[in-house]
Amino acid sequence: MSKEKQSSQYSGKVMLAPMVRVCSLPMRLLALDYGADLVYTEEIIDRKLLICHEYKNELLGTIDFTMSDGTVVFRTCAAERGKVIFQLGTSDAKRALAAAKKIQHLVAGVDVNMGCPKEFSIKGGMGAALLTQQDKVKSILTTLVNGLDVPVTCKIRVLPDIQETVALAKLIESTGVSAIGVHGRTKSERSRDPNRDDYIKAVSNAVSIPVIANGGSKNISNLSEVESFRLNTEASSVMLARAAMWNCSVFRRDGPLPFIDVLKSYLRYAFLYDNNVMNTKYCVLQIIHDKMTEIPEADFSLSAKSLQEFADIWHLQEDYRVILHERQQKEMELSAAEGGDCRGVKKKKTENGLELIELPVRYDKTLYNSLMTPKQILNNYCIKHQKEKPVYSTTERYQDRFFKSVVQLEGKLYTNPFWERSKQLAEQSAAVCCLVVNGLDDGRTGEPKNETEELRRKWRDIVNSKIVSPSHCSDEDAENRLCSATDADLEKKVASQSYTEIKSELAEGSSDAILSKQCAVGSDVDKDGCSR
Ligand SMILES: Cc1cc2nc3c(=O)[nH]c(=O)nc-3n(C[C@H](O)[C@H](O)[C@H](O)COP(=O)(O)O)c2cc1C
Repeated sequence: MSKEKQSSQYSGKVMLAPMVRVCSLPMRLLALDYGADLVYTEEIIDRKLLICHEYKNELLGTIDFTMSDGTVVFRTCAAERGKVIFQLGTSDAKRALAAAKKIQHLVAGVDVNMGCPKEFSIKGGMGAALLTQQDKVKSILTTLVNGLDVPVTCKIRVLPDIQETVALAKLIESTGVSAIGVHGRTKSERSRDPNRDDYIKAVSNAVSIPVIANGGSKNISNLSEVESFRLNTEASSVMLARAAMWNCSVFRRDGPLPFIDVLKSYLRYAFLYDNNVMNTKYCVLQIIHDKMTEIPEADFSLSAKSLQEFADIWHLQEDYRVILHERQQKEMELSAAEGGDCRGVKKKKTENGLELIELPVRYDKTLYNSLMTPKQILNNYCIKHQKEKPVYSTTERYQDRFFKSVVQLEGKLYTNPFWERSKQLAEQSAAVCCLVVNGLDDGRTGEPKNETEELRRKWRDIVNSKIVSPSHCSDEDAENRLCSATDADLEKKVASQSYTEIKSELAEGSSDAILSKQCAVGSDVDKDGCSR
């Protein structure tokens, strides 16, 4: 795309500004429905994005970037393709580039946050901390402009001095960015302080790339007020944060809608994309905003703990029921296409000839007696039947310090596909797999929907009838990781590589390869009496 074309994307537009917690997928889609030209994501820190795994969520029709514990960091879908701008929090050029490369195929542009005044950002050298570090600003933006295929922009706050603000904007323009967002408040000013429209105007007059004026929400509740703000700042475009958060229909050509209508439409998107409940609650409360004491639903929303409760409070039960029903149908179709009950069950031979069995089981602490855990049950079983003690081998993933464990019993290896927060949890999950495959009671006191006794029986039958795949049969990295967990040489090699070495490799930009490396964890004997 030519430079002019990249810049024209930001010219004469009205946009949803980046807002932490607010600008997740439902709000972005809602803003687009109402007429926003472009929508920004919330700020996502480069380090966090780098440890995320890209996942095609067939059930929701989204692409998700998730952490090992399943937390969704960025969810996007086809409806916003070409319209979504990804905002990055960063303090380092190479890291920013490595992170942005992971998502550039899904977004219309990448924006760097240079205005966040929060302690967390400033301490990390990000956000508004960059405003006074010209070399860093230059290196981050030029690296992104040269390394990415999509347009790059940044969003700044103004500096206390108008001429210094203009000088900063010119420096930013010289890096080749496609546009610049300017919030007319300094780092130390709060939203109650007046917006310095004259500073934005000075920047607009000094640079030739589009300027996106920001900070005018207090006086904006419809598109004609957006236009007044634009004219006042002589900017090319406007981005709205709080005005859109309070009533997203501010983008409508035909005028804004009552907030209740907006709230319900927001909830429908939250249901459709299975939005995180706490995130949904935050947005609902922001939409209710100054009407908290006026409507009874406000208090109920404050204490809601599930999307179903939101559906009940706002009389959207039928909408939610239909969405859940359709999702269930889709789940059944997907399950059938992926082998039905076989899904998640794996059996293969490792490089050293051992049979490795993986079941989609998980040790949920709340379902077990802490005095008789699956590991203890397995250990007692071995003692009683004079079998060798189970041997646990655990890998730690360096980037987020999550664990996965494989337990060896009588020449067979047992594991599960999930990474756990602690070594103990990982080992307990491996023990559950071993007990389930061998038809032994693992001491569980409850039966979650996705792991009923009936399913466990089916999995056991599948394992017992499944032909063992030859080694090297799969290139799935999860399987490779599990095989490596039993390969002493590889363990030693990875364990000997220091965190600093890995970090410096990361800084060299070969992030994908490095991020899949594991740090092996040493062997010892734990309190359950199981040797590893
Ligand atoms: C809840 C909330 C979250 C925000 N998060 C971000 C963010 O992630 N990145 C960013 O650059 N600015 C963020 N901002 C600042 C806004 O983008 C915007 O600069 C500021 O609110 C002024 O614009 P307005 O008058 O339209 O609200 C946030 C503001 C709010 C109210």
